[in-house]
Amino acid sequence: MDPRQVNPDRGAPRAIEDWEKDTLEAWEEQRKKPWQPYVEATLGFRNHWYPAFFGCELPEGDVTPGPTEVRSEVILGERILFRRIGGHVYAVQDSCLHRGVRFSARPECYTKETLTCWYHGFTYDLRDGVLRSIVTDPNSPLVNKLRLRSYPVEERKGLVFVFVGDVDPPPPLEEDVQPGFLDAALAVYPEGSVRTVKCNWRPAAENGFDPAHAYIHRDSLLVRALRIPTVLGDAGISRSHGMEIVESTRPAGVRLLRGQGTPIWDAEIDAGVTISARFKPGQEGVLEGMVPDVSIWLPCGLKVDPFPSPDIIHFEWYVPIDENNHRYIMTWGRYVETPEDEAKFREEVKGLWKDMVTNKFTNEDIFAREGEPYFRSIERQVIWSLLPQRHAVVATGGGTFVDPENRAAINADGVSVWIDVPFDVLLDRIPADGRRPLANDRVQMAMLYENRRLAYQQAHLCLDASRARTEELVEQLIEQLE
Ligand code: FES
Ligand SMILES: [Fe+2]
Repeated sequence: MDPRQVNPDRGAPRAIEDWEKDTLEAWEEQRKKPWQPYVEATLGFRNHWYPAFFGCELPEGDVTPGPTEVRSEVILGERILFRRIGGHVYAVQDSCLHRGVRFSARPECYTKETLTCWYHGFTYDLRDGVLRSIVTDPNSPLVNKLRLRSYPVEERKGLVFVFVGDVDPPPPLEEDVQPGFLDAALAVYPEGSVRTVKCNWRPAAENGFDPAHAYIHRDSLLVRALRIPTVLGDAGISRSHGMEIVESTRPAGVRLLRGQGTPIWDAEIDAGVTISARFKPGQEGVLEGMVPDVSIWLPCGLKVDPFPSPDIIHFEWYVPIDENNHRYIMTWGRYVETPEDEAKFREEVKGLWKDMVTNKFTNEDIFAREGEPYFRSIERQVIWSLLPQRHAVVATGGGTFVDPENRAAINADGVSVWIDVPFDVLLDRIPADGRRPLANDRVQMAMLYENRRLAYQQAHLCLDASRARTEELVEQLIEQLE
């Protein structure tokens, strides 16, 4: 059956106009929601400072011929070239104004301060981005007139931060890092961990802050090696309970309020089958003083205090690269009084904690984050395998139709039906036995509901299921299909 015959909104020009109007209105409504900026931040929040890499990863720039030290990173979808000149790190766009090629593909620096494009010789000053000369056209009127986009950079506590946005001058870096990170007495390990993870930055941020995700760490090697009491989860935490939202000051962020949730140490799976946290506080031989405060701060930084030991603070960032990847940056801090203490701390992290945390703990988080895109790709394969079938009804999961590729596949070779249920009816239908954890948080549920409606509106048919019984709905559906 041709879906265009089925959907009354398709075909006639007038119907298309109506459909566009409805969609536009729905979209305008959606844009008013307080969480909409986050929904739209596929590439992160612009006008913030982001850690790009550790300073030790970029030596002083050399002059060609010979090795040229530049570094190219994609941050928030922008390819940025970094070079250290006289100790200071500068950053410019990594694409030539002439034909757009990437400088970093073959970097040429004939002086410490300049970058010459390998294609036609446009030569720029790395400190301000100005076009200083053109090798192949010395008298060009463009010289000293054109300018590469340059990015503010600050190197603090061993990390190189870059400001990605349009505000000039940028806000102070202090407003965009986790509280305490820049404290003078805090020694920060300058050779932390940087990994690229194949998932958008938002599932990473949500995972890091989610009290229920403690469950994936129940068997982490770090937990077992140090006998860290690790809850199965913390229940009963929602936007209105167990969280402090800090928005009047910068950095803005959210703190989990320890003690207000219900720590889950044991959980019954079925009658007589209970699983328990491997280690509980107070047990003999279990590490003490390890109930960390967890908080997340704009634009993408998590703070866990203490972790992985009672006098160390863990910092991590989920820096957006593009819509499908983020850079997972981690380091650790300890308050120290003397240079000797700091040296000792560095040795300790280098010899023990860096490996312990990254390989024996946070690899669990990476596994989980990459899991969802993997799940979606399997789901897509299933949909494609079902498409050749005729006269078949496929009930998809709620998220399936939200995925643009899945939706396109379904709509291209099938008739999609949206069974529309009002929010309060939906809430009533969800079992109150805790099997759907999202249902504990009405705001979160509402957010999911609103976000998904935009995708559902693109179904060929919509059945209003607010009052009709199942049999009536089936009849309605058959009628519309005929
Ligand atoms: S593309 Fe760079 S000088 Fe032509
Ligand atoms: Fe984690």
